[in-house]
Amino acid sequence: MKPLFVLLLSTAWTLSAAQHYYQGLMDYLENRLLAIEVRSDPLNDLRKLAAEAVDTLKNHHGSLAKNLEGAAARVDRIEREMDFVESQTSPRACANTADKVVEQGAWGKEEETEGMHEINCVEIISGIRSVKILKRVGSPKGMWTRDPRSSKVYVFNGTSGDTVYQFSSVRDFSGSPGVEGSKPFRLPSEWAGPGSAVYNDYLYYVKQEADTDVQVVKYDLLAGEETETAIFPVESRATVYDLNPETVADLAADDEGLWLLYAPSDSEPSISLAKMDAATLDIEQIWDTRCPRENAEAAFVVCGTVYVVYNTRLASRSRVQCVFDVNDMVVSEEAPLLYFPRRYGAHASLKYNPEEKQLYGWDDGYQIIYRLTMKRKLLA
Ligand SMILES: *[C@@H]1O[C@H](CO)[C@@H](O)[C@H](O)[C@H]1NC(C)=O
Repeated sequence: MKPLFVLLLSTAWTLSAAQHYYQGLMDYLENRLLAIEVRSDPLNDLRKLAAEAVDTLKNHHGSLAKNLEGAAARVDRIEREMDFVESQTSPRACANTADKVVEQGAWGKEEETEGMHEINCVEIISGIRSVKILKRVGSPKGMWTRDPRSSKVYVFNGTSGDTVYQFSSVRDFSGSPGVEGSKPFRLPSEWAGPGSAVYNDYLYYVKQEADTDVQVVKYDLLAGEETETAIFPVESRATVYDLNPETVADLAADDEGLWLLYAPSDSEPSISLAKMDAATLDIEQIWDTRCPRENAEAAFVVCGTVYVVYNTRLASRSRVQCVFDVNDMVVSEEAPLLYFPRRYGAHASLKYNPEEKQLYGWDDGYQIIYRLTMKRKLLA
């Protein structure tokens, strides 16, 4: 009698879990359909077909929920159709070439040689290997990152503040409830937006006080003091990513130095990139990536290549759809159109860790690690 009871119970559980999962898929498909903007008649027809397919799926709800494999296969097929419609209605994955070095003499060092920038690594992302949802802590928006050198983890809750939570490792962070077990510390000024970077026990953050220029601050985490500040004369209030207006500007630090993604002004439609000296905060070179700010959600820098992640207002799947390489070594054909796995929120930040080749993402308060697969740049 007992085994039969257990069996019945587990069948009931599987069914309701399956139905829950199935409902999630349907919600996802419908949201994605809503987000597709249609600009031409043939595409409108395709969108209608996709909508009909979703309806059919819904009508077969009962049988499909019991046969999850069949449902998943059909959802996959509809998704591929949607991918196609989306690829026809939104910008394609494109690699922009670095032929347009912006002249900004007043911004510091301009004697830097044009053309090749000294980048030592030659890797390009080829895919997302795995996703790990670590935990959920803090506000829907925020950022977290791991210092590639010290392995310490830093959590920035919300979109501004003067507090940073430090954990001794990722394991420490995931194993502790909330932010307990961290070493919180206060900075001498507020960080503005989830756009900070940590490298080799230095924290770089963006500071923007009312009606002042954007500043980049370098903070010595071991000594607990500010060591450098640089004024970045961008038009105030122009933020770098359309879908995350709290991100004033976005910093990335790696072996090559310090990178800053920013919007030069409100009227400038694309994202600019500055290479800074990580020691002195001098600006070494500036590029216009020609990746649009519109519908941009986040971006990150890997081996001198900027990957811009796009989404829609009704959060759909995030995707890398624009790539810019400072050395022109990524050609259009190999620019990856990378889709992030299905989620229900949107990334407030994505921080790349060059040692582990992982992205640290903050999605609706969830802290997520994406492991990436890499390949060599073709021309390298
Ligand atoms: C995160 O920030 C929000 C407000 O932005 C606050 O309500 C919440 O308590 C904070 N959480 C932690 C863990 O600091």
